[in-house]
Amino acid sequence: MAITVQTYTTKEEAVRVAADAFEALIRERAKAGKTAVLGLATGSTPIALYKELIRRHKENGLSFKNVISFNLDEYCGLPGTHDQSYRYFMNDQLFNHIDIDKANTHVPLGTLPDAEIDAHCKSYEEAIKAAGGIDIQLLGIGRTGHIGFNEPPSSAESRTRKVHLDELTRKDNAVFFGDLAKVPHYAVTMGCGTVLDAKKVLLLAWGEPKAEIVAKSIKGPQTEQVPASWLQKHKDCVFILDKAAASKL
Ligand code: F6R
Repeated sequence: MAITVQTYTTKEEAVRVAADAFEALIRERAKAGKTAVLGLATGSTPIALYKELIRRHKENGLSFKNVISFNLDEYCGLPGTHDQSYRYFMNDQLFNHIDIDKANTHVPLGTLPDAEIDAHCKSYEEAIKAAGGIDIQLLGIGRTGHIGFNEPPSSAESRTRKVHLDELTRKDNAVFFGDLAKVPHYAVTMGCGTVLDAKKVLLLAWGEPKAEIVAKSIKGPQTEQVPASWLQKHKDCVFILDKAAASKL
């Protein structure tokens, strides 16, 4: 199975294409009286897409009442009220601006004691299954090749679990925290196997700094050392790129 690559001159164009995929799914399911299950990501990459979805909600009547969402990951140690937690990010960047029922939004909990994390991860996986599985999983990609926070080495079978963050990831994310020392060392993330179970996967990447890892993920060997390379196994995975992110293909 090969990854489908779509390259656009501008990020804005690329974002519209990604938004179209989400809008089509949500509207089609709403028409049939059914739910749409979205796998969502945080970080800088999806911000423009969330803005576009909010615009479509406000201007075109796109409703999220039938949407159930599962986020990929959360930092350990940060409660949802912390402005760098991924729960906070999702509320702030998307959920607070659309008509989604917050009870239908799921983000892993980062504040549980170690003894309770395994059970939480299992129940996260079970909740995804109970919702009918993820229809579209949105991904960004880290320069380590991580998807979610599946740092190298991560197996294709990995499931939701607590993971140790790579130093390169901590450094890349230090811009959001303003200080490297404040970036957590651990996170809870869906596994590569969890992501591969989604019916459709859309990975977005912008800018030259992502070009090398994007090329490795698409053209390189499938390996634990580049967790995003496992996406080559998926039957419906699309990389939506701007020109710069596609420049090493
Ligand atoms: C975010 C996530 C990460 C990011 C990746 C890219 O929920 O799981 O895999 O998608 O670190 O981050 P940005 O978009 O900030 O370059």
